[in-house]
Amino acid sequence: MIDYDLELQHHNDVLRRACAIRASDRVLDVGCGTGQTAREAARLATSGSVLGIDRSNEMIERARALAGEAELSNVEYVCADAEGHLLSRESFDVAISRFGTMFFGHPVAAFSNIRNALRPDGRLVMMVWQSRDRNEWATSIERVFTSDEAGSTNAGAVPQAFSLGDPDVVKRLLDSAGFVAPSFDEVNAPVFYGRDVDSAFEFVSAFSTVQEKVARLDVQQCTRAFDRLRQLLAEHQRGDGVWFESRAWIVAARRNPSMRS
Ligand SMILES: C[S@@+](CC[C@H](N)C(=O)[O-])C[C@H]1O[C@@H](n2cnc3c(N)ncnc32)[C@H](O)[C@@H]1O
Repeated sequence: MIDYDLELQHHNDVLRRACAIRASDRVLDVGCGTGQTAREAARLATSGSVLGIDRSNEMIERARALAGEAELSNVEYVCADAEGHLLSRESFDVAISRFGTMFFGHPVAAFSNIRNALRPDGRLVMMVWQSRDRNEWATSIERVFTSDEAGSTNAGAVPQAFSLGDPDVVKRLLDSAGFVAPSFDEVNAPVFYGRDVDSAFEFVSAFSTVQEKVARLDVQQCTRAFDRLRQLLAEHQRGDGVWFESRAWIVAARRNPSMRS
């Protein structure tokens, strides 16, 4: 079965290197989902600890189960919204996130909350998508559902997925939230959608954005859109599976030490 961890296998390697977790680090994983990045951080922070937070209880339950299976004793999870949850002050050396920080309704509040939770010399390392037009996985799937009467946009991804794609916007946001020295490293890596067209079709057609779109189509529109989707996936089949181009940023910044919690 394909899952998000398999989809992001190349991205994950790049992010792990960028996070450079040290043995003694206390790590906060924001929007941790089912917890792959938190588990990996826990393995590196041998004398430290990891707290993963996510607003989805389902994700947190799964993350706890996977950490239990991996017999990790230095990782904990809390179901909480990063915007409102009171994180303990100045407790973490590093806040990390793999595509978990783009969906905040009030980003300055959320990033300020994260900044407060960092020690004065703490750092933030997050992976975010670049703009939609630079992400083939989003634009090409969207075209499948917009090339005839199928109508509206956003079948490929929710718009918020690209909310941190513009470095100028992110710089202003981080500055307002009390971070300094932001840097942006480009990640040009493909996403994996399946070993073959059938498994990729199963994976992509389960995207919530695709399902929402399909629910508004009549039977004929739906048949045509799914034919186009299969054709698109076949065009992206390589020897080792179905891959789509993507562009992300690794954004790193430091807590502004002169800003009080
Ligand atoms: C694209 S998923 C990434 C999950 C995980 N980081 C990964 O890479 O597998 C985004 C996650 O962010 C979580 N999320 C979005 N907004 C959040 C918020 N305000 N507070 C906490 N979690 C949030 C979602 O519930 C979701 O699990």
